[in-house]
Amino acid sequence: MKNILIIGATSGIGRELCLQYAKRGCKVTATGRRQALLASLKESSSNIATCAMDVVDCNAAELLQKVGAAMGGIDLVILSAGYGDINQELVAAIELRTVNTNVLGFTDCAAAAYRYLKEHGGGMLAGISSVASFRGGSAGPAYSASKAYVSSYMEGLRVMSYKDKANVKVSTIIPGFVDTALAKGVGGEDGIFWMAPVEKAAKQIISGLSRGKKIIYVTRRWRLVAWALRLLPDFIYKRI
Ligand SMILES: NC(=O)c1ccc[n+]([C@@H]2O[C@H](COP(=O)([O-])OP(=O)(O)OC[C@H]3O[C@@H](n4cnc5c(N)ncnc54)[C@H](OP(=O)(O)O)[C@@H]3O)[C@@H](O)[C@H]2O)c1
Repeated sequence: MKNILIIGATSGIGRELCLQYAKRGCKVTATGRRQALLASLKESSSNIATCAMDVVDCNAAELLQKVGAAMGGIDLVILSAGYGDINQELVAAIELRTVNTNVLGFTDCAAAAYRYLKEHGGGMLAGISSVASFRGGSAGPAYSASKAYVSSYMEGLRVMSYKDKANVKVSTIIPGFVDTALAKGVGGEDGIFWMAPVEKAAKQIISGLSRGKKIIYVTRRWRLVAWALRLLPDFIYKRI
């Protein structure tokens, strides 16, 4: 991968992917809303360029064209921007911000990235879903629902690429807990387990993408949790 666009790279997984790819000699354009964090990324490596944007309030197609022109093409787009919080009180602002970011903003970016890559001879598109996508979650219903949407959308694009012979490889990244600001457990730290350092998570994502994997669990043991979640009968699931 030579030229990479990461949407949502100011912090957490996206930022670490940006730093690790830049270290490997790739050219990376990092995006996000927090300008000071974008500036610090730019300063950290001559391989990193930045572009401020809000996925909820942008024209993703224009962004892709602009970044593509500046980089001389894009080989890989990673959709990392996301929001979620514990919301057992169902505060409307939190539920709606989650949907706006993880569904509406995500859709604009994913569709624009797919179209861009298809029109430019192909490439890779990776979207970050979550183990939370496998069942409805009472800790914050909008978050798990939004991640189910992300997984389904990415699968839709994967099938579309096959049917279109579009040469766009579509990967879905499924993290469990990764040590970032977004990782939250019900009841605080007690609700968090198997938390991966962000460096390890990024390394596994880069490895999975380099092998063209369709589904990338981060870390790998979360595949087991995903499998168990899918099989658990409702009368047990609702008690845990
Ligand atoms: N950490 C975990 O345990 C975990 C588990 C499963 C899935 N995930 C997923 O991993 C992805 C990355 O999250 P993270 O853990 O790295 O959390 P994070 O550190 O909070 O990073 C979130 C990133 O998304 C960007 N973002 C949020 N809203 C945005 C908006 N409206 N427009 C543009 N960018 C926006 C943020 O940038 P700005 O604030 O600067 O805009 C930031 O760069 C998310 O999709 C998350 O759902 C994380």
